[in-house]
Amino acid sequence: MCGIVGYVGQRQAEDVIIEGLRRLEYRGYDSAGLAVVADGGLHWAKKAGKLTNLEAELEANPLPASRQGIGHTRWATHGAPTDENAHPHVSADGSVAVVHNGIIENFAALRAELKDEGVEFRSDTDTEVAAHLLARELAGGSTLQQAMGAVASRLEGAFTLVAVTPNELDTVVAARRNSPLVVGVGQGENFLASDVAAFIEHTRDALELGQDQVVTITPDAVTVTDFAGNPSEAHPYHVDWDLSAAEKQGHDWFMRKEIFEQPRAVADTLLGRWSDRGELVLDEVRISPEDLRRINKIVIVACGSSFYAGMVAKYAIEHWTRVACEVELASEFRYRDPIIDPMTLVVTISQSGETADTLMAIRHAREQGAKVIAICNTNGATIPRESDAVIYTHAGPEIGVASTKGFLTQVVACYLLGLYLAQVRGMKYGDEIRAIMTELEAMPDAIQSVLDGIEPVYQLARTMAVHEQAVFFLGRHVGYPVALEGALKLKEIAYMHAEGFAAGELKHGPIAVIEEGTPVFVIVPPQGRDQLHDKVVSNIQEIRARGARTIVLAEQGDESVRPFADTLFALPRCSTLLQPLVATVPLQAFALELATALGHDVDQPRNLAKSVTVE
Ligand code: G6P
Repeated sequence: MCGIVGYVGQRQAEDVIIEGLRRLEYRGYDSAGLAVVADGGLHWAKKAGKLTNLEAELEANPLPASRQGIGHTRWATHGAPTDENAHPHVSADGSVAVVHNGIIENFAALRAELKDEGVEFRSDTDTEVAAHLLARELAGGSTLQQAMGAVASRLEGAFTLVAVTPNELDTVVAARRNSPLVVGVGQGENFLASDVAAFIEHTRDALELGQDQVVTITPDAVTVTDFAGNPSEAHPYHVDWDLSAAEKQGHDWFMRKEIFEQPRAVADTLLGRWSDRGELVLDEVRISPEDLRRINKIVIVACGSSFYAGMVAKYAIEHWTRVACEVELASEFRYRDPIIDPMTLVVTISQSGETADTLMAIRHAREQGAKVIAICNTNGATIPRESDAVIYTHAGPEIGVASTKGFLTQVVACYLLGLYLAQVRGMKYGDEIRAIMTELEAMPDAIQSVLDGIEPVYQLARTMAVHEQAVFFLGRHVGYPVALEGALKLKEIAYMHAEGFAAGELKHGPIAVIEEGTPVFVIVPPQGRDQLHDKVVSNIQEIRARGARTIVLAEQGDESVRPFADTLFALPRCSTLLQPLVATVPLQAFALELATALGHDVDQPRNLAKSVTVE
């Protein structure tokens, strides 16, 4: 949600910033802008719409050469996506330009205060107050670093601010609270960005910033302080993926590339988890086995696809650990006074590790004394940093806004956690865990076989590329969250009305929406070994009798569904709990191909952002 870049060094700032914004555009694409310092003044350009609009503007009206600048790609919160509301915002006296990610919650009071002083506002954004406040501090003799600390201490809410002033050459200053910001450390150049993807082609050395810090970069130095100006620590780390991971590598969409990366991503989540001593090993579990044995409830909090991954995980975690597990939307969690105490283990799932709803939920949980384990894909993000333990999914960067490999690897990481808890709590013998691990280790090949046979799914999607159509998804047990995830993919990128239902619940209402020709996907549990299989087959007959067009996903060799399936896709054989890892893949591919056929921008769907850093 909003991408930010800052650069100072020897290259053309405009080139570095535009390239950085291109890699951050997944975070928001309502407008884009940049500001540079040259010839003793600020020069800027900003345009509503995607980055290409800004590039066209720069082509028509080039900015002067500069080696110091800031840039922004916006997901609108305060104020419509117009040129005026695009960032950067420049103070009335032209002394400072600022870009912002987050929401300044007390902006109305600050705006009123500044208006009383005679400041005229040119936008509807909350950000503009920061520009005027910074200018006021600079006019009073502060350095940009001091000004940033003073202004940041007055702001409430979530923000990353990055600013430049013509008074200070070769300097870019930023502040952060609750919104992402990382420093890229180069040779004779330094970078600031919401995500390492923005500078990965220049350096893989990064600094993870803490809460309420101000960071100042010059070509040769990075200085970190608190808001009061006292020296402060930042944690250096090396990014373990390179530029090629952040490129499409011949695919038309990042989302397609990421769907096809799933066998590798799942293998990487599993890599090195089984020790020579026959025990599961997780990344950073800073919770003692005694504490893990004491817990009497698990609460999973997450948003979007991560929430559905949590729903899948609940079945496995309860089954393996016999500890009650609730799954809750992070945005609802802390506002309903949840019953959380030191015996509760909160598991938070977040691909980005920056989702504001999820972050606020874990802060609330920790205030109540709960231990928090984060399942996350982004090294050094705020959520793992603020958790007691972290299991990284190691899926590599996910850039398509609709989550795919993020989801599958989250399910796998949750399963690892479930097995780990079962191990620590003595609920499973080592050989039982080993047997499940062996099955999990076979999943990359199973997923690959689904991908190898994906063409019929694409063909179906192309025939169904009609805007008005509604599509339904049915599943039971772990198939239910898979149905929800399949429907979410279609909503997100094809903008189609799509709903997922628990197949057994159908008769209690949803069946009324079935009409002649209504397409309904049904995920059928494995045959024979699963008690729900026959019940779901009956559900298929019920909807078919009412005219539904049934698209059935069933295990290879399951002939019992064939008479009732208008279209049948075979899934590799695996146990019920692992079936989501193969059943989700055709649903992702279906949504992707259908959205492509409708001519949508699959990687940047309307109104959405990859990482939602506002509540
Ligand atoms: C946004 C994205 C979704 C994602 C959700 C949670 O809404 O568009 O694809 O599932 O955030 O994101 P997280 O990074 O916390 O997993």
